[in-house]
Amino acid sequence: MDNTLLKIKQLRKELEEHNYNYYVKSNPTISDFEFDKKMKELQDLEKDNPMFFDPNSPTQRVGNDINKAFKQVKHIYPMLSLGNTYSKEEVAEFYNRISKTLNEPFEIVCELKFDGTSVSLIYENGKLLRAVTRGDGEKGDDITENVRTIHSVPLYLQGNDFPDFFEIRGEILMPWNVFERLNNEREKDEEPLFANPRNATSGTIKLQNSAEVAKRNLDAYLYYLLGENTPHKYHYENLQTIKQWGFKVSNDVVKCKNLEEVFAFIDKWDIERKLLPVATDGIVLKVNSLKQQQLLGLTAKSPRWAIAYKFQAEKAETRLNSISYQVGRTGAITPVANLTPVQLSGTIVKRASLHNSDIIEELDLHIGDMVYVEKGGEIIPKITGVNKEARILIGDKIKFINHCPECGTLLIRKNGEAAHYCPNDNNCAPQIKSKIEHFISRKAMAIDGIGEETINLLYNQGLIKTYADLYKLTIADITPLERMGNKSAQNIITNIEKSKNIPFERVLFALGIRYVGETVAKKLAYSLHNIDAIQNASFEQLKAIDEIGEKIAESVVNFFIEEKNVQLIQELKQIGLRFFVEEEKIQNKTNKLNGKTIVISGTFSQHSREEYKEIIANNGGKNTSSISAKTDFILAGENMGPSKLQKAESLSIKIISEEEFLNLLK
Ligand code: IVH
Repeated sequence: MDNTLLKIKQLRKELEEHNYNYYVKSNPTISDFEFDKKMKELQDLEKDNPMFFDPNSPTQRVGNDINKAFKQVKHIYPMLSLGNTYSKEEVAEFYNRISKTLNEPFEIVCELKFDGTSVSLIYENGKLLRAVTRGDGEKGDDITENVRTIHSVPLYLQGNDFPDFFEIRGEILMPWNVFERLNNEREKDEEPLFANPRNATSGTIKLQNSAEVAKRNLDAYLYYLLGENTPHKYHYENLQTIKQWGFKVSNDVVKCKNLEEVFAFIDKWDIERKLLPVATDGIVLKVNSLKQQQLLGLTAKSPRWAIAYKFQAEKAETRLNSISYQVGRTGAITPVANLTPVQLSGTIVKRASLHNSDIIEELDLHIGDMVYVEKGGEIIPKITGVNKEARILIGDKIKFINHCPECGTLLIRKNGEAAHYCPNDNNCAPQIKSKIEHFISRKAMAIDGIGEETINLLYNQGLIKTYADLYKLTIADITPLERMGNKSAQNIITNIEKSKNIPFERVLFALGIRYVGETVAKKLAYSLHNIDAIQNASFEQLKAIDEIGEKIAESVVNFFIEEKNVQLIQELKQIGLRFFVEEEKIQNKTNKLNGKTIVISGTFSQHSREEYKEIIANNGGKNTSSISAKTDFILAGENMGPSKLQKAESLSIKIISEEEFLNLLK
């Protein structure tokens, strides 16, 4: 090898080691001065020899300021979330359920639940290949460049006993001290503050300038090694091994043999977590044996072999100064309490949600009361009680408003519902504006270049009253707006035009029908195929669709009862938005493999292994990695492994070739 390259490689390796000692082990073995000197040497060598560039070089951890939109990447395995529990009873239920299902000894691994942004990392031949956000669980943003700047994420692995290709998941975090420093700076610059380290992390990781990300000093803990080729058949043991590859794994992971040990872990960390440098919001319990994990399986959203226990929120006491009322997208009125700022779980709280008038009544709130605030899972804290003893001078009792604070319309309260609504959805400004904001949002029509502010301006100028009006905008309409120019106007128009290609399920989501979120929109689109069928479906027909309940069915029916909605859709149809699922996509989805458990083995010629996994899922089947009595058949390509073959034969499981499989689906 070229001598210069040898020197470069040696320096990279050395610097990565120092990096590991400093950021993962918190145990540096050289001075900062020595480190900087070596870094400078490497930088100079790389500069003079650009042909030896490596994106994973330690010199690249400073990031760059090239703006690039994130590429969307499909996850190899979907990124599930965890079921939540809030009490020890529920933890015991989880434990007993596992015990009953498995009916054999098992161990539970207890870990801290880190409160940041989850990330999936892919390593190939010992090098970081890709880092992807959770996204919608199926696909996420490629944030590799940003993740390279996180010093505790190894760019090259240590040792040589890691698989050639593997995925590992963990949490990106902003340590408390970094969070505080960042918010202090933002306060000085009059920029909006981050509510908590979790928001600060996700805001940082989405920055499109990795040099900025590098300045934010993020950290990352890893907690889940995936795949069929893990070094051990046990989660705990895998965690110990990945530490040796250079990953940062919490030292506070324990194996428990019974419920008492689990409870002891919970009790200990409910207190001690306050001393940790990063935010945690609970404990994660996982079945240790991967074989048992497989037996327990998954639900659509989360694994049955793991659960999160969430810590009780911390409480603070402060004064209630006034109440304001916000109008949401659907006209729902949310009362918000304005408080004397108070420190709570590391952040400053100034406002709290009061949800609805019943809660105000129940709490018997008066202006000037000393109230208790808590932070639950949500970012917005809530008021949970009043310190009546502190009521010296009693202020006015809070009376819920009767009229919309924005448009003055008399509020209504539907039977059985807790919220008050402003029924003036055609003319009440915040309702119209937030409907449009929802319409253009990333998961809906993804119209980039317009934000809350632009919508505000366009609305105030009388240029948009419904989301259909967006499609009538011209460059001349937009250019004169504040902080716009011809180029950005041009851009916006192009993006609006592009949105006409957004698939039906997202258009359906964009319409903002109450309770029709992303998943429900997908379900409706693939069950009924086009908007006319959805519009004409009766309450019963809708309810008969898997996962569609009464509440959703009623909301859909009500949406189409309103003439103005029908007209709006008519208008959008004429504009050219997609209101049907493409024939091709329908054909690719069947129930032909419903209830079938299929193992894939060997190499294939017509589709990749990943594609076959997708085909199985699209047709209602389930793909598992190891053969058991529950396997219905094996989809076998070339060179199926001998041990799999033997196992299949011993259990008399059918083996199907690629051609046979594809014929089956025709
Ligand atoms: S395991 C299939 N372990 O919590 C199981 N998750 O509410 C995958 N999280 O999306 C997750 N600490 O972002 C696991 N020690 C831990 C965790 C953890 C934090 C996050 C993760 C996940 C979310 C679920």
